[in-house]
Amino acid sequence: MPMDFMDISKMRITVRRYDPRPVEKDKIDCILEAGRWVPTAVDYQPQRILVMDRPEHFLKIREFCTFSFDQKYRDIDENAGLHGDESHNVYYYGAPLVFLVCYDRNVCWQHPESGESSGLIDATIVQTHMMLEAASLGLGTVWISYFDKKKARELLHIPEHFEIAGMLYAGYPAADFKPNRKLSGKRYPVSHTCFDGSFDSPYETSYTDTFKDSRLEEEK
Ligand SMILES: Cc1cc2nc3c(=O)[nH]c(=O)nc-3n(C[C@H](O)[C@H](O)[C@H](O)COP(=O)(O)O)c2cc1C
Repeated sequence: MPMDFMDISKMRITVRRYDPRPVEKDKIDCILEAGRWVPTAVDYQPQRILVMDRPEHFLKIREFCTFSFDQKYRDIDENAGLHGDESHNVYYYGAPLVFLVCYDRNVCWQHPESGESSGLIDATIVQTHMMLEAASLGLGTVWISYFDKKKARELLHIPEHFEIAGMLYAGYPAADFKPNRKLSGKRYPVSHTCFDGSFDSPYETSYTDTFKDSRLEEEK
């Protein structure tokens, strides 16, 4: 059954343990297509995306993702050490598909007065659309910022005028994947982050949020 946007938004959850099954090419193509139909400043479309799904890529990724987010949260990550298989959990969580999202510094719009570049904003919109498209296709993803960009640049021969925005790991969640209850599924009420006309006046919604993600409930 097709899901509406709100369903996809609430169903998307960070996956840090993947099934090694490759992602089908038509799904990869859909994800890239979603990253194509995005708004960018002045429609300059500065995004440049590297698709990585081969073993030689993963060897390189392991080299520039040496300080994994997962390591920091190892004590609270329920996926860590499930099989005593450290290599599966660190660095790329066994994801069979990785996108590196960059933007071309020479292509993106710059604010004429401040000189501020819109490249990171454009690339972030691209990566967000890709992430949500992947979710709508039944794939898990994790957004990755915690990696050595300098090393990635060297190992992947990234052109000098490309800036790295982020990475997106994708794939089918492992059968034994469990969402991280400490890092996922907790959202402040709208009144915490949104304001009504001035920042000393919280925005009150007309509804009470009753959404509970069953994937995050304690096992009995
Ligand atoms: C900009 C950004 C950077 C992130 N960087 C990492 C990362 O380097 N490693 C990681 O495991 N998760 C990373 N995440 C995933 C977040 O931890 C996760 O989205 C957040 O805890 C909320 O959980 P949810 O995605 O399941 O809703 C990142 C997410 C965003 C949006």
